[in-house]
Amino acid sequence: MRERPTRSDVTLKDLESPDWWRQAVVYQVYPRSFADSNGDGIGDLPGITSRVPYLRELGIDAVWLSPFYPSELADGGYDVADYRDVDPRLGTLDDFDTMAAALHDAGIKLIVDIVPNHTSDQHEWFQAALAAGPGSPERARYHFVEGKGPDGDQPPNDWQSHFGGGVWERVVEADGTPGQWYLHFFAREQPDLNWDNPEVRADFEKTLRFWSDRGVDGFRIDVAHYLTKDLREPFAPFSEVGLGENVEAHGHPFSDRDEVHDVYRAWRKVFDEYTPPRIAVAEAWVHRSRVARYASPEGLGQSFNFDLLLAEFDASEFRDVIQDSLELAAESGSSSTWVLSNHDVVRHATRYGLPAGSGRHAKDWVRSGGSPDDVDTERGDRRARAATLVLLALPGSTYLYQGEELGLHEVGDIPGDARQDPTYFRTGGAEFGRDGCRVPLPWTKDGPSFGFGSNGAHLPQPTWFGDYSAAAEEAAPCSMLSFYRAALALRETLQTDESLTWIEHPSPDVLAFERPNGWRSITNFGAVPVDMPDGEVLLASAPVDGSTLPGETTVWMR
Ligand code: NOJ
Repeated sequence: MRERPTRSDVTLKDLESPDWWRQAVVYQVYPRSFADSNGDGIGDLPGITSRVPYLRELGIDAVWLSPFYPSELADGGYDVADYRDVDPRLGTLDDFDTMAAALHDAGIKLIVDIVPNHTSDQHEWFQAALAAGPGSPERARYHFVEGKGPDGDQPPNDWQSHFGGGVWERVVEADGTPGQWYLHFFAREQPDLNWDNPEVRADFEKTLRFWSDRGVDGFRIDVAHYLTKDLREPFAPFSEVGLGENVEAHGHPFSDRDEVHDVYRAWRKVFDEYTPPRIAVAEAWVHRSRVARYASPEGLGQSFNFDLLLAEFDASEFRDVIQDSLELAAESGSSSTWVLSNHDVVRHATRYGLPAGSGRHAKDWVRSGGSPDDVDTERGDRRARAATLVLLALPGSTYLYQGEELGLHEVGDIPGDARQDPTYFRTGGAEFGRDGCRVPLPWTKDGPSFGFGSNGAHLPQPTWFGDYSAAAEEAAPCSMLSFYRAALALRETLQTDESLTWIEHPSPDVLAFERPNGWRSITNFGAVPVDMPDGEVLLASAPVDGSTLPGETTVWMR
């Protein structure tokens, strides 16, 4: 294998480019599960700072930090009680500045999560709304309405929330009587904000400037398509509106309404006040014909593509998704994003090792108890490596989720009493939720919480975690960690312009494409070996002998 260039040789030069994000490798840190510096079982900002050398060695370009704000953790931190502070369990604003400086010194950009659709019910605005009563300006920051029926004890409509149960919650008024209902598309502790209210708009712009002034390089926008709503009666029934994903045209009452782009156009002006301009990426589950609006240069600039999270490990599915995503990105002049795992889905090493299939069936496995015995881990690991090389060879930015570089598997069998995800509680245990990909990372082979902290971990770690620890993999040349480091370093030297040309191959199981300067990525998604194309092998996801490309293997060649 060729010698790896050091990061200082190859990346620091690009730090000030306004286009740094277009082909960046972004590593998602779920802060409460990354590294715990003070032994309270919860990951924190000093913990992240202590691991910056690890991130630098890994070779990423940016960190995306999931919410670290004060939160009652009704939804893993996506219930924000104060957008301009740090949860005291995770540190202080000074700790944030120290972390940001350490990342920047290591040549790593910092993207933070912004959650504009809803606050926590502990946010001072919501508490003020409860105290102020019907008709008040405090309630006008949210969506409070009267209930139906003679006593107003029926919810305004039958819409269902993402985490199970209805979207309306009735409050008890200050005088102790049952009162109005408020809207929440996620947990009841996450009341939706009213984006028609200028005060809400102004406050978020203040938040964007607050973090930009502290040196944050960009923002990931949570449920970016949900902010603006038309709640005029009559309400369409849930059977008609659903959760509002994949809607083809403007007019849905709460999803992907055209007016949401007024918000993002205003945000763009804020981003452009900085040098280089702050970047943003939308989490928007919208119809493909409407994605470009979110990714436009006048708007957020980039939008996530999630199709690979649902795709089977299959050459033609991958090709269709890649082609479609590249076309979509081109429509807005943006670059595409590639994601195999994040904090909301079953880890891909596990998905690829499930007998029923990798994409759509993973939730069924979790629902059935998530036994590790159902997972062919060897196969999952092999496919994960092959898919990772495909992603890293694609033009655009690749998002990695913490732990995937260790080949970490989903912890499917967390006992009910240890679970935290509101999905589990709001469905009465019918859905197990997303805790299995959020289990604190193993850093050492053994010891309390496998080096995550000096004590326990807020979600139980299984005994097999030590084998996947950074320390165990550090020294092993064939480990997943060594593989990721090699792939990222090589990518950095190969990735230049954003061109991609498909290479046709006689086998329907082979996906091959060429990038600039003769760099080729060739994957055999099938089980049967195929002939190996000519050329110099730069990196392979599994051992290759020069004459055949084994099944479920990717090679980078030149
Ligand atoms: C999307 C986030 O990724 C997820 O974790 C969260 O529960 C919802 N948005 C609600 O904020």
